[in-house]
Amino acid sequence: MNPAEARPFHDRDGVIWLDGVFVPWRDAGLHVLSHGLHYGGAVFEGVRVYGGRPFKAGEHLRRLAASAAELGYELAWTTSELERAVTELIERQGITDGYVRPVAWRGSERIAVGGAGLSAHTAVAAWEWPHVFDPAKTGISLATSRWRRPHPDTAPVRAKASALYCTGTLARDEAEAAGCDDALLLDWRGDLAEATGANLFLVIGGELHTPVPECFLDGITRRTVIGIAAGLGIPVRERRIAPSELADAEEVFLTGTAYEIQPVAAIDGRVFGVGEVSASIAKSYADLVRGRAGAAG
Ligand SMILES: Cc1ncc(COP(=O)(O)O)c(C=O)c1O
Repeated sequence: MNPAEARPFHDRDGVIWLDGVFVPWRDAGLHVLSHGLHYGGAVFEGVRVYGGRPFKAGEHLRRLAASAAELGYELAWTTSELERAVTELIERQGITDGYVRPVAWRGSERIAVGGAGLSAHTAVAAWEWPHVFDPAKTGISLATSRWRRPHPDTAPVRAKASALYCTGTLARDEAEAAGCDDALLLDWRGDLAEATGANLFLVIGGELHTPVPECFLDGITRRTVIGIAAGLGIPVRERRIAPSELADAEEVFLTGTAYEIQPVAAIDGRVFGVGEVSASIAKSYADLVRGRAGAAG
């Protein structure tokens, strides 16, 4: 287990930014009758910190505001105010390589499904968190889930909304119970979609193939990787991809703020190599996030 995860999250030292004020970590609570807790209206972000600097914080915080707007509410803070909070929090927490979690939710003025006119609350927490998966493992294993990403008419699929994560939790727990590291979710049509917290890329004939993000999050890392591939002269095909096409893939990898560029070694027992294309993308991504020369994206 990652040492930072050894203590439960409610019982740590430090501060959390809550509605404009830095409060002691253990005091950063909300009322149990908050609308966000009951009706799935929380929105959140994950931002990685590399060498003390947040990567693409502005883009993440703009997405936080856009997610809240998709769910019908407005944040009480501007993106620049939240960016300043993130910067100060990283300093106060002394984070070198870590993770920042902004989250927003509707308050407790009324308990009823309708959310109009309710207050909006925002918190930002940060902690040291260098890796999601064991870095000694070259690639992770996935199991295809029975849960699917929904039709865009049935859920606010463009939002990074807590409500959408209930199927991710079910899928992840089922995959882990089956001895795998994560789940692969198909979309409502049965085509490949993404993992529980990351987007999917296949390498076929030396080119990148990735599903069109019509019913799942168009990840900031996904777009960064598409930019990196352009800089490396690797063609990218965004298209619908049937699960049967995994048979044609030389390499498979996942992309996400937390996962970074995560090679996949097996899906439902089918084995993939961790090859040259994934390695070159991962190297360029590492250079970019750490601000090393020559990085593009
Ligand atoms: C469900 C899901 N898909 C994709 C991603 C990747 O998005 P990003 O690269 O913006 O972190 C994430 C992580 O935020 C996620 O939770």
